Amino acid sequence: MIHAPMDSSASVVGTPPAYAVFLEDVTVDFDGFRALDIYRFGVFHNELRVVIGPNGAGKTTLCDVISGKTHPSGGRVFFKGMDITHRRDTDIAALGVGRKFQTPTIFPSLTVYENMDLALPGRRRVFQNIFRHESQEDTEKIYAILRRVRLLDVAHCLAGTLSHGQRQWLEISMLMAAGPELLLVDEPAAGLTDAQTALTAELLLELKGHHTIIVIEHDMEFVRRLNSRVTVLNEGQVLADGPMDQVQQDPKVIEAYLGR
Ligand SMILES: Nc1ncnc2c1ncn2[C@@H]1O[C@H](COP(=O)(O)OP(=O)(O)O)[C@@H](O)[C@H]1O
Ligand SMILES: [Mg+2]
Repeated sequence: MIHAPMDSSASVVGTPPAYAVFLEDVTVDFDGFRALDIYRFGVFHNELRVVIGPNGAGKTTLCDVISGKTHPSGGRVFFKGMDITHRRDTDIAALGVGRKFQTPTIFPSLTVYENMDLALPGRRRVFQNIFRHESQEDTEKIYAILRRVRLLDVAHCLAGTLSHGQRQWLEISMLMAAGPELLLVDEPAAGLTDAQTALTAELLLELKGHHTIIVIEHDMEFVRRLNSRVTVLNEGQVLADGPMDQVQQDPKVIEAYLGR
């Protein structure tokens, strides 16, 4: 678990401390098109929240405003009570926000193990890489994660030779190694077989309770497996929010999404 550095420049405001992430009146406009229009969205510390919604609903944009990749046109974004609305993505990452993109972003010409090594906290800073020596603890941590995600056998293979499913798990493993407080996971089951999807859900459930996690997903079977609170986005707005069973029966949701 990384502890975010103390940061006196970030204003700490009165969002309830139980929220890891809180969005207030957040809008994102692209050339006059309103991609996101969120009145209130809060995720508790160590909660696993699933965000679903039709294509173009604004799910990835939601991750983008939390990670700082996109800055809102209006409103405010808080992480652990700090206003991060106008912070740079690299600063937000340093505060403890990690992200898994829809397409895996691993280094194909490095081995699985080397990719994991680079994911450890601080490893991408040049000086730490020049002077570092790998501790026994790091090595054990990497192997423990690789065992859990069934990548131990391919630890010393080039990441570029992995199957699509294995790449997805390597990315999740790299997030686990980095240990951010908040994990943003965008469509981890895309393109996976049923068995691979089931393992991916298991991995996220293992992380549940240790990190705050926001998972975006289309696959309803996967969402059911996660058995967590669901927020439904539609046309940039929160359409419904609650347990999957309840959300599924909401006529607004059926009309916008599930019934199609
Ligand atoms: N950089 C951008 N420029 C213009 N329009 C964008 C941009 N990013 C997303 N959009 C639009 O915003 C809407 C929401 O996109 P997105 O957040 O990717 O949806 P989702 O992830 O739910 O499929 C879509 O209509 C998309 O075309
Ligand atoms: Mg998307």
